[in-house]
Amino acid sequence: MFYEPDKNNHGLKYNPFKQLVVPRPIGWISTLNENGVPNLAPYSFFNAVAENPPAVAFCTGMRPKSPELKDSQRNAEKTGEFVVNLATYALREQMNRSSAGLPHGVNEFETAGLETLPSRLVKPPRVKGTPVHLECRYLKTVEVPCSDPTRGNFVVFGQVVGVHIDDTLLVDGRVDIARAKPIARLGYMDYTWIEQVFTLNRPD
Ligand SMILES: Cc1cc2nc3c(=O)[nH]c(=O)nc-3n(C[C@H](O)[C@H](O)[C@H](O)COP(=O)(O)O)c2cc1C
Repeated sequence: MFYEPDKNNHGLKYNPFKQLVVPRPIGWISTLNENGVPNLAPYSFFNAVAENPPAVAFCTGMRPKSPELKDSQRNAEKTGEFVVNLATYALREQMNRSSAGLPHGVNEFETAGLETLPSRLVKPPRVKGTPVHLECRYLKTVEVPCSDPTRGNFVVFGQVVGVHIDDTLLVDGRVDIARAKPIARLGYMDYTWIEQVFTLNRPD
């Protein structure tokens, strides 16, 4: 089959696009609002985009049925900081709960039943119980096309300035990420997790 997203002519019950770019890592983003209230939300339009220095990006739509930006973007832009917490199988329910569309200023650490850990170089707290955290300084936001001209899609870039790795992941000087059981998004309501790793050396 072939379809053009502009025409939405796939003929399927659900838009298949998100099932075709998989698995998407989940950037579980913590921020602070201007009053210092923590905010937490998952973003699967998320990835690492550079290595030296490391940089990441997450892409947000807008609040459903509202002209407002989502809190993660708003807070990152206002305070200049955010933290990426690794979403793990053990914390999948809490991650899901933290995606609820709550009013601005509600602390999703509390509503999701999570505890915080302080960060070292930025103010937003980290999620306690997950073994990897990336402390980030906000770089810039790039708007990308949105099929609804009254709304928007925004890619938020950050530079990673501090990296936390729990010692339990370190084996012979390497990170054994399968030990963390990171979860990732597929399409629909589906997820996967990393448990199998294979190695392929490059030809040169
Ligand atoms: C696994 C998962 C991935 C998500 N990925 C995105 C995403 O990439 N972009 C987005 O705008 N919303 C995404 N959402 C929805 C947001 O998490 C949700 O709108 C949330 O309320 C935003 O919170 P905030 O306003 O505190 O930033 C995702 C939800 C889940 C459960």
